[in-house]
Amino acid sequence: MSPTVISTIAELRTELDDHRRDGRSIGFVPTMGALHAGHASLMTRARAADEIVLASIFVNPLQFAATEDLADYPRDLNSDSELAGECGVDLLFVPTVAEMYPAGTLLTEVRLPRLATKLEGLTRPTHFTGVATVVAKLLNIVGPCRAYFGEKDFQQLAIIRRMVDDLSVPVEVVGCTIVREDDGLAMSSRNVYLTPPEREAASVLRLALDAGEAIVKGGASNPEAVIAAMSAVINGEPLAQLDYATVIDPLTFEIPANLNHDVRLLVAARVGRPRLIDNCGISFEKVL
Ligand code: PAF
Repeated sequence: MSPTVISTIAELRTELDDHRRDGRSIGFVPTMGALHAGHASLMTRARAADEIVLASIFVNPLQFAATEDLADYPRDLNSDSELAGECGVDLLFVPTVAEMYPAGTLLTEVRLPRLATKLEGLTRPTHFTGVATVVAKLLNIVGPCRAYFGEKDFQQLAIIRRMVDDLSVPVEVVGCTIVREDDGLAMSSRNVYLTPPEREAASVLRLALDAGEAIVKGGASNPEAVIAAMSAVINGEPLAQLDYATVIDPLTFEIPANLNHDVRLLVAARVGRPRLIDNCGISFEKVL
């Protein structure tokens, strides 16, 4: 069944208040649309845990720089609504920019500079302020019990978790594992920009993570060796332009002095038009 589409904050609040009054739990999947199997996994996870499942589709201008793809970000409400329906989503919140930002701009920002200026933040300095601000606003509008985010955007997930903790937002943040194509490419709405040869080349991100993982699991203690191996794999693909390949402590986002505890490997590269990101976690028990 297709979800009920709601486009105003007032209407959504009335609908959700009714469910809350009747004691139903609300699961929330915030998205920017162009839904794919990665989003489907979040919606299905919410469906299994919550009585009412709401997804939002809002291409948030605040998180795009002037040079980025806001105007032509892929949008297809019909196919999004169909996929959401197949995943059992009850309500689809699809506000306009004027509904979310009626004054044209917000005077309030949610900023987490210590996490947001690293990695993605180096090339996208305003991005995470836009993300944290809109997610805070959406959580205030929806008031969900649980909110679901993909681990593909690992830094985004960490920032949202920290924002929720710091501001005591009453929601459980659920991180969901990355969904991949058969050749390992992580699902992303921006994969549609890839030409066929670029699409083939794009699996190099996963290959780089595999190379890094093999070195960590082989007992390497020096992060530089892992970084060099991942960088070499991406640099070996002529259609890919390496942005970063790194290994971090998933709590501090710093490169660890040695690899004797849980780490996260992260890579970012431009392949043709889109800039793609991917990551994988390695827990120390698995290395021993
Ligand atoms: O991951 C996304 O699609 C967006 O960054 C989010 C969390 C929906 C905020 O606009």
